[in-house]
Amino acid sequence: MDNGQGIQVHDKRFEPYISAERLHARIREMAAELDKRLGAADRPLFLAILNGAFVFAADLFRALTIPAEISFIKLVSYKGTRSTGQVITAIGLDMDLFDRTVVIVEDIVDTGNTLHAFLPQLEHRHPRALLTVSLLMKPDAAVHPVPVDIYGFSIPNVFVVGYGLDYDGLGRNLPAIYRETVS
Ligand code: XMP
Ligand code: MG
Repeated sequence: MDNGQGIQVHDKRFEPYISAERLHARIREMAAELDKRLGAADRPLFLAILNGAFVFAADLFRALTIPAEISFIKLVSYKGTRSTGQVITAIGLDMDLFDRTVVIVEDIVDTGNTLHAFLPQLEHRHPRALLTVSLLMKPDAAVHPVPVDIYGFSIPNVFVVGYGLDYDGLGRNLPAIYRETVS
């Protein structure tokens, strides 16, 4: 699929953007920062948002050295390459968040629709503290300002795939991040 120049996913071309080496180096730094910030917290609970965040969450979580828990929820807002603006909870949360330090793990904060809809639902459960971590963010695409405490890379308003992120279901298994080639 990859000829060194780029790749095809469905009807679109994508070009290499963030290498696996850069991703892993940055994720180690993010984990070190979380180790430091969460060192005093009692069993922080990482909450990864499926599907997109599953690869990032697995690498970030394994790079932590503090004792921590992880769980998953599934939220859906994207159709193809666009946010629908509507956020649906496809798999809900089965954990008690009361008095817990909760770390939301996202693959990308784009329009902000997902976290804007979801964070208040978490606040209702009265966690002790809520921290948001995202591998990528697209500040130029923001419709809702959402707090992202730690992010890996700030990117322009381009569509990306790989490392968990998909275009219509495909591309999640690519080890690096690719951006759409706009001709
Ligand atoms: P919002 O717009 O709600 O986006 O902040 C959140 C979710 O939408 C998906 N998303 C993308 N997926 N390439 C993708 O493969 C992208 O460029 C992209 N932008 C947003 C993603 O699941 C994210 O969690
Ligand atoms: Mg996602």
